[in-house]
Amino acid sequence: MSGGKAGAAAALLLTAAAICDGATAVRTPVEVGRAIYLHGVLSSGERLEGARGPEGSRTTGQDAACVNCHQRSGYGTTEGLTHIPPVAGGYLLRPRARPTEHHDLPYVDGMHTDREPYSIETLARAIREGIDSDGRPLAYLMPRFALGEADMAALIEYLRSLPVGRAPGVTDGVLHFATVVTPDADGVKRAGMLDVMRHYFAERNVRQMVPSRRLQPSGRTMYADTMYMVHRQWELHEWDLTGAPETWKSQLRERMAHQPVFAMLSGLGGSSWRPVHEFCEENGVPCLFPNAEVPVESGDDFFNLYFSRGVLLEAALIADRILTQQAAEKPAVIEQVYRAGDSGEVAAAALAERLAANGVRVRNNALPYGPKRGDVAAAVKKTRSATLILWLRPSDVAALGPAPGTLSAVYISGLLAGLEHAPLPPDWRPHTELAYPFDLPEKRRVRVDYPLGWFAIRHIPLVAEQVQADTYLACGLLSEALSHMVDNFNRAYLIERLQTMMEHRIVTGYYPRLTLATHQRFASKGGYLAHFADASGSKLVADSDWLTP
Ligand code: HEC
Repeated sequence: MSGGKAGAAAALLLTAAAICDGATAVRTPVEVGRAIYLHGVLSSGERLEGARGPEGSRTTGQDAACVNCHQRSGYGTTEGLTHIPPVAGGYLLRPRARPTEHHDLPYVDGMHTDREPYSIETLARAIREGIDSDGRPLAYLMPRFALGEADMAALIEYLRSLPVGRAPGVTDGVLHFATVVTPDADGVKRAGMLDVMRHYFAERNVRQMVPSRRLQPSGRTMYADTMYMVHRQWELHEWDLTGAPETWKSQLRERMAHQPVFAMLSGLGGSSWRPVHEFCEENGVPCLFPNAEVPVESGDDFFNLYFSRGVLLEAALIADRILTQQAAEKPAVIEQVYRAGDSGEVAAAALAERLAANGVRVRNNALPYGPKRGDVAAAVKKTRSATLILWLRPSDVAALGPAPGTLSAVYISGLLAGLEHAPLPPDWRPHTELAYPFDLPEKRRVRVDYPLGWFAIRHIPLVAEQVQADTYLACGLLSEALSHMVDNFNRAYLIERLQTMMEHRIVTGYYPRLTLATHQRFASKGGYLAHFADASGSKLVADSDWLTP
């Protein structure tokens, strides 16, 4: 870069650094650029505006944001015949590649390879006027953005901050993954989950060790060197957290510093998963489909993907059911029983809020934390309202005692109670509806038979079927996403690949379908309400269609 150019660039950066939040906090240029790129919000707080030619269409704000087309990773995307090129700084500002240096940047579909590298000035021109580094007009789909100097400098700074190339946790030979278990997670489920993962990883690595052979004309075996680029070993790190949730983030930070991992896969939580979720979001580490009873609902997050909203989904299913009843049948008061500090407490709070906002009074009955403490049967016997909601685990469900005659409707969390294996006493069964955030057993049978067969052949004991099936599904999704990524080990790109891949997935385990549109973080959106068919056993009868609250 010539002295003059460097000077101009530095001046631009200085202006950007001085941009104020409007309030007191001074944001860095990268933060300003990020708001433009992700949300279409300028440093002034005004909306970004994109135009296509003088009489062309205009888009503003979120609709105009670069992320819509160039993606969170800045790697662009390809949809049918439309190629949207990468704009992560490494792709724009790199020197023109010589033939011998072609793998310094991973190949992505839409990448423009046959033009001069951009300078800060030509890049600003591309964004403002739609003219590329060689002076050619960019296609109509790319809007023109009239950005001021400081905003432009900040945006370019953000593009330059987008990582390209290999993420931490990736070496020439190994892809490192971690699975996180919180200290209050169920021990049986933990063992079941780890059993599946260890087998999956071991098997994958053995298979990957065998290179496919090609015969040379001479008849000798030849190994293509590209094979070794994609066939990395997967290594699983089991991260068991200890102590109070406030300390988990620092534990994760230490683990990560000691052994970086590319992504977190599956995992198991109890009543709190938030610190793990936040760690992943703050550090840009994909956290893929943990078995979390209480996932974190947060509109703007990107790196955390879940199969479902867990007990929060159950609360929504139950709330919808109660609130859509005929006015005459709608209860004026309902009562909830849960254990303080357990996952049910969060769900009970969400449900109470929904109901209270709609004129239904809620009485909460919190038992002390820990099994066998406080008398469940006594708590239930005191119920005065006709509608009762139970957020209880199997040992408590088994100890419910006789069903009070005053009750007309009972709702119970399937996830906590053990789904169709919930030990619900016979006299409770006729008027109890189970929230069931999965496909029903007979409907999912064909899809679940495959993993069950896979477990059986490997002598993996079936100790927590749903958790083990979800874990197997998570491993399969990761494996498929990586096979589409070739050598692009970029963390945001992994999330993007999973997102596009999801809809075409036929093997969806416990879920009828999985979809992840932009901004969606929960792949399965609904569930059933069902009751037990018989006084004992696990046969369920659906009380509803598949509901998506
Ligand atoms: C509606 C989709 C869309 C949006 C929004 C969009 N772009 Fe583009 N952009 C494109 C397409 C398509 C191209 C490729 C045009 C071509 O190949 O001629 C492109 C090309 C570019 C290029 C040239 C890349 C190269 O290798 O030559 C840059 C730089 C760029 N966009 C930056 C941005 C920035 C920064 C934003 C946000 C301020 C943005 N784009 C918003 C669709 C979009």
